[in-house]
This record gives sequence, structure tokens and C-alpha cells, in this order.
Amino acid sequence: MERTAFPAIHFPNRFPNPIPQTNRMADTLTIVDNRTGKTYELPVQAGTIRAMDLRQIKEGPDDFGVMTYDPAFMNTANCRSAITYIDGDKGVLLYRGYPIEQLAEQSDYLETAYLLLFGELPTASQQHSWTQQITTHTMLHENVKKFMEGFRYDAHPMGIFLSTVGALSTFYPDARRIFDPDSRRLQTRRLIAKVPSIAAYAFRHIVGRPYIYPDNDLSYTGNFLNMLFKMPAENFLPNPVLARALDVLFILHADHEQNCSTSAMRNIGSSHVDPYSALAGAAAALYGPLHGGANEAVLRMLNEIGSIDKVPEFIKKVKAGEAQTRLMGFGHRVYKSYDPRAKVVKQIAELVFTVTGKNPLLDIALELERIALEDEYFVSRKLYPNVDFYSGLIYQAMGFPVEMFPVLFAIPRTVGWIAQWEEMLLDPEQKIARPRQIYTGAGLRDYVLREQRP
Ligand code: CMC
Repeated sequence: MERTAFPAIHFPNRFPNPIPQTNRMADTLTIVDNRTGKTYELPVQAGTIRAMDLRQIKEGPDDFGVMTYDPAFMNTANCRSAITYIDGDKGVLLYRGYPIEQLAEQSDYLETAYLLLFGELPTASQQHSWTQQITTHTMLHENVKKFMEGFRYDAHPMGIFLSTVGALSTFYPDARRIFDPDSRRLQTRRLIAKVPSIAAYAFRHIVGRPYIYPDNDLSYTGNFLNMLFKMPAENFLPNPVLARALDVLFILHADHEQNCSTSAMRNIGSSHVDPYSALAGAAAALYGPLHGGANEAVLRMLNEIGSIDKVPEFIKKVKAGEAQTRLMGFGHRVYKSYDPRAKVVKQIAELVFTVTGKNPLLDIALELERIALEDEYFVSRKLYPNVDFYSGLIYQAMGFPVEMFPVLFAIPRTVGWIAQWEEMLLDPEQKIARPRQIYTGAGLRDYVLREQRP
């Protein structure tokens, strides 16, 4: 197995253990219901009260009980998870306890995938067999290829990607055995191995080039670059710097706890559907411009701005909320400081540009960041660059059209989705996801015949 030489990338990262170490299990919260005068004492565990404990708070025996109202889950923990830890105020991201900066510097994507799935870094022999298991599943069934050929020439590759992942459920009906650990392992290997092949085929489809079959002698990202860019009549050697850069970007995107697409994966998976169908739904959630589609939106925004002198005017438009203009690649639901992934991506960009030449849009991006980080509007709202702000510039410099950007996010996030899906399945507290609502519609009324309607 060829391993590309990894140029060292150094990231400063030393901080004390950021995870709160005390878990005062005996804490309680006292609630006085002023409607009835009754007092309730609810246990507080890990900083949370259980929403179901509120149900006992009733005005009378027929009352349903108190619920919480939390649109967009701004303050609701939906699960316990041991996979990823984020401290949004301090800008900390850990996978299974390991800081993202250390993994970016020293690990590779498949090793990180193993860590996320199994909880520990692999030994040398575990890493060897894990890599082999993945590489033996990179091929796509020929009918999958035919299925992909059916898309229009100008189909968005993310649409192709998520439909094809969903279609895999029809090729692997054994995937329905979700409570069989061997089946779950097999689908996990298949998914991690096949998503780069699907992504590369989607890319070749939109650029009108013949498909290139996987080459299992190459590394995970080396093989991906080969399937993307090799011309059949010519030899192709993946550039080791670009392969490493892509590998680090894959590490950075591998998981991010309960984001929109991961919550979608857990929600869909909670109905006990097969993982391919659930993952298609997660990929659909990622497609949106407020989530994984943001890196595509950043590039469109930078192109629209066009030159550095237009940056102040654009910032003015964003602040005025004109036509819902946002500074794409800025802001995050959880990070209220610099996204730690964005810092690494900025360094990767420098590395990639030594090979590809500088992306001319970089200067516009740097100027946007400079102005935004000084501007009261962004500072007061704690809006900092997120992972998507610089990643698009790298992808473009590497030769990807913007439509491929969300697909490049979906490939590595696949492992996060699977790890979270499996954790959800094995969690005895989890059931089919089914939120409540506050009904605001019409009261009971009788049906009116069409000719009698006003
Ligand atoms: N540009 C301008 N203003 C913004 C932005 C932005 N990018 N993001 C948030 N704001 C403002 C927003 O208008 C609001 O202001 P006000 O209080 O005056 O109404 C305030 O900041 C809070 O915004 P919010 O929409 O309530 O925050 P949220 O947590 O719901 O949204 C977000 C998070 C990521 C959807 C949002 O910041 C955004 O739309 N960013 C641009 C899209 C983007 O870059 N998405 C990628 C996210 S990172 C990758 C991933 O994990 O998916």
C-alpha cells in the first residue's frame, strides 16, 4: 500500500482540559407553579433537567402537563454522546477527547474515522486491517454507475450524491439488519469506502469525462484525486501535498456533534430505517446553504464582490440586512469565537497555494475577515469565520467546481453520521424521534359544502 509522504503542518495547540470534570448528580431545581401554588423538585444532571420531569406539573388531572418550547433546539440536548466535544465560547473541538489541532497535525483521515467509530486510536495492526477493509469496498456496483448516468448533464453533484447514497439501500438489503453488529460493520465499511467513488463519479458526470475506477494501491485521498482528475490516456500521480491537504480537511469535517445533518441522521435512523436511507437524508440536510452548502455560497459571494474595493460596500449591505444578505462563512450556532477548524483551514490554504498558486479571491476573503473582525456589528454578535470561509478557496484552487464543495464536506462527514447513528441505536434511552408542537390552528369546526362556502 502506497502511503504518500505527509508534509508536516504545525498548529499551535496547548490548553488545559476544557471538559468540566464535576458532574454534581445530587443537584436539584425547585419549581413553584404559581397557577396551583405547588412546588416541584427536579433533579439536575450534567447541567440539564429532563423535559419529561416537567409533565408532572399540571393544573388539574386532565392537564397534559408542562412542555418546553424550543424551536430550532437552541437549548435542548437530544442525546448523550461520547463522540465529539465542542466548547463554542473557547473555540475548542475534541474528537473522543483528542484536540482537533493535534489530529489535523498528526493523524490521517482513516485513523480519525476509526477513532470516531470505535472510541480509541487504532494500534498499527488495527490501522492496517482497517485500511484494508475500507479499500476492498471502494468499487461501485456497475448498476450504480448506470443509475448515475441517468442524471442530466447539468445535475448538481450533491443531488447526484445524496440520491445515489439512498439508492445503495436497494443494492444492500442486508443493511436493514441494523441490530446485527456484523451488518452494521459491513455497511460502515461500504459507506466510508464508496462515498469518494460516488463523489468522483458525480464529478466526472458533470464534466463529461469517463469514470475512473478506484485504485486500491493509493491512499484514501490519493485514490479520490485519481478518480477525479486522471485522464484515461495519461498517467496521473496525485500530488502528495494536495492529497495531505485534502486528508486534513477530511479530518476537520469528520464530525461536529449535533449539527443539522447529524440530527437528521439520528432522527431518520430512529425510525430504524437502513443506514443508506438515513444517510441520504443527512446529506440532504447538509446540502442547504446554511450548513454544508455554505462553502459554495462563500465562493459565489466572493465572486459577486469581485474586488477588494467593493468589500466595504458589501459589508454595509450585510449590516443593513439587504435582501437577506449574510456574510457567508461567518457565524455559527455553537462557536461564539473563532472556529478552531477555520484556523487550521487557513494554514492549509497557504500550503495548497504553494502548489496551485494563490487563489485570486483570497485577498477579498482576507479583507472581508479583517473588516468584519473590527466591525461592531460582527463583534457584538460574536460572528467569526467558520470552517467554510476558507475551505472553498482551497477546493477551487485544487480544481473543483463550486458545485462539488458540499460533496467534499459529505465524504468525511459520512463517518460522523455513522458513528452518531450507531450511538443512537445502541442508546437504551433513545426511541423514535417525535417532537411535540403547540397547536395554533383553527378550533373544531364542521365541514362546509363547496357551494355553501363564502
Ligand atoms: N452574516 C451577517 N449576520 C449574521 C450572520 C452572518 N453570516 N450570521 C448571523 N448573523 C446575525 C443575524 O442576523 C442575527 O442578528 P440579529 O440578532 O440582529 O437578528 C444574529 O447574527 C444571530 O444570528 P442567528 O441567525 O440567530 O444565528 P444562528 O445561530 O441561528 O445561525 C448560522 C447560525 C450559521 C446559520 C448563521 O450564522 C449563518 O447564516 N451564517 C452564514 C452561513 C454559514 O456560514 N453557515 C456555515 C455554518 S458552519 C458549517 C456547518 O457546521 O454547517
